[in-house]
Amino acid sequence: MVARTDRPTVATDDRIRALLASMTPAEKVGQMTQVELGSITPAEVAERAIGSVLSGGGGNPGDGSVGAWRDGVDSFVAASRRSRLGIPILYGTDAVHGHNNVVGATIFPHNIGLGATGDADLVRQVARAAALETAATGARWSFAPCLAVPQDIRWGRTYEGFSQEPTVVAALGRAAVEGWHGEHLPVDGVLACAKHYVGEGAMEWGTAGSHRQPWIDWWDGWGPDWLIDQGDIRITDEEMREVHLAPFVAAIEAGALTVMACYGTWHGRRLHADRYLLTDVLKGELGFAGFVVSDWMALEQIDADYPTAVERAIGAGVDMVMVPFNHERFIGTTLQLLDDGRLTVERVDDAVVRILRAKAAIGLLDDSPPPAVSAEVIGCDEHRSLARRAAAQSTVILSNASALPIGPATTVLAAGEALDDVGIACGGWTISWEGSPGPITPGRTMLDGLRSALGTDRVDYERDGRFGAVRAPVGVVTVHELPYVEGGGDRADLSVPGEQIDVVRRVRDHVDRLVVLVVSGRPLLLDDVLEDADAVVACWLPGTEADGIVDVLTGRVPASGSLPVSWPRSAAQVAGRTGSVSEPAAWPIGHRAGDRPAMTATGGP
Ligand code: GLC
Repeated sequence: MVARTDRPTVATDDRIRALLASMTPAEKVGQMTQVELGSITPAEVAERAIGSVLSGGGGNPGDGSVGAWRDGVDSFVAASRRSRLGIPILYGTDAVHGHNNVVGATIFPHNIGLGATGDADLVRQVARAAALETAATGARWSFAPCLAVPQDIRWGRTYEGFSQEPTVVAALGRAAVEGWHGEHLPVDGVLACAKHYVGEGAMEWGTAGSHRQPWIDWWDGWGPDWLIDQGDIRITDEEMREVHLAPFVAAIEAGALTVMACYGTWHGRRLHADRYLLTDVLKGELGFAGFVVSDWMALEQIDADYPTAVERAIGAGVDMVMVPFNHERFIGTTLQLLDDGRLTVERVDDAVVRILRAKAAIGLLDDSPPPAVSAEVIGCDEHRSLARRAAAQSTVILSNASALPIGPATTVLAAGEALDDVGIACGGWTISWEGSPGPITPGRTMLDGLRSALGTDRVDYERDGRFGAVRAPVGVVTVHELPYVEGGGDRADLSVPGEQIDVVRRVRDHVDRLVVLVVSGRPLLLDDVLEDADAVVACWLPGTEADGIVDVLTGRVPASGSLPVSWPRSAAQVAGRTGSVSEPAAWPIGHRAGDRPAMTATGGP
């Protein structure tokens, strides 16, 4: 399994090696250092020849406005050009479903919704739009696409994966990289980042404790209640290659020049220190010519002795280290490891060449002007229309007993918190790291969509479903998950909360036909809902243009989405790899509107 990778031209490499020859050890290690924007000043970036600055989840320059982003990024880039050799920084951010840290940016469906579309061309267009909005703020590196192949949907990062089908993840991951890079990477491209390398989707439930090493004083954000994220991967080499490595092969073939290493362990071996995977496989077998960046404070998980942790990570093949805090310790430690011969000059030179290759590819090593992308592109109508189309195509009608489509002159009783909440529809990685309910950024809710499609006077909305004596032919009600991120979304119980079921049942009493919309980052257990529903629709996390869901509910857009993951019928099935049970899933991967349902609204076969 060898990926063809567009190795940079010999001329570029010659230039890079000439530049390398002029670098001091401190400048080389500076290039290997990525620092969170709040931990360093532009002057220090210049002084230390820092290679990259990042905005972590929710980390924004200034007040997070577009202007603050442009000024903030530019201050770091301009400072880096004032360093002795003038090598500009790469500014990186988690633009994982649009430029999602920025208020007013277009927020697209999370990957699980894009996976439901199965449409590589759409994914390419979405990534291209996100790239333009990201480049418009000066950032030229996005930590996307996530190429996870989620096996256990109790994992809080399930929604960051496109699908449980590796071939779908590979096809959509390839398209995403092509979209981020565009036709002319130096002109208006943003470097993609294939992450998290490799096998994260197969982490074993109950093993998440590995990230809470006794010597690490983690802040509570890495909560003790994490249950699977950053856990142990217990699969064979063959399964690792066939299921989880395949998407990275595709991403590298598409030209990916950065890869982010995966937290967690493989049979107890720390992935950030796994030379076999990071060097022998990725750089040897697959011919990956770019660079590997570590994840947020991941080195601290490797060993209680920090120098040993750094030695093992870089020795294994990590090229750039995400050191959100205390970059001086990393730089000093790495230089000492070089002096002591615990890291070779050859390894450090290889890391720096790889980093400079990526910078050269995006035009940072010549006098390419920054992308001439106007801030007007951020949240523009064209991108919002694309996001609305993506939300429509991501919609999966799980079951429909003649309740859909909703006719044009239909009166509707509408209920459910998520129906009118942009924050819930966007989910995690939106404005803040975890995301949050509420009007957190401009967008159109499903309720907006219903009112536009049917007329405001035909849609009666009561969030809690208390409609008094009113009746109507159709009811539309949501059940949902509140926003979460990473291990904070690890959940053993995927059933719909009782208070949401109460809303469903209240609406049931007032309508002839009831449509239940599931707004979530993964399948939920719907037994308590199915008996009241004449139609059930998976909406995933549709983003700021959730009215695209209504386009399908009203038949304006044909239902085309299909399940990217298996939808469990019971808690026993949710246990993924460990919970094999005889009964079939509620709906299998690939299920779409009109298929023979595995179960009817009555819950029978
Ligand atoms: C996080 C995530 C990773 C993200 C990085 C920077 O912990 O694991 O996906 O790109 O840190 O925010």
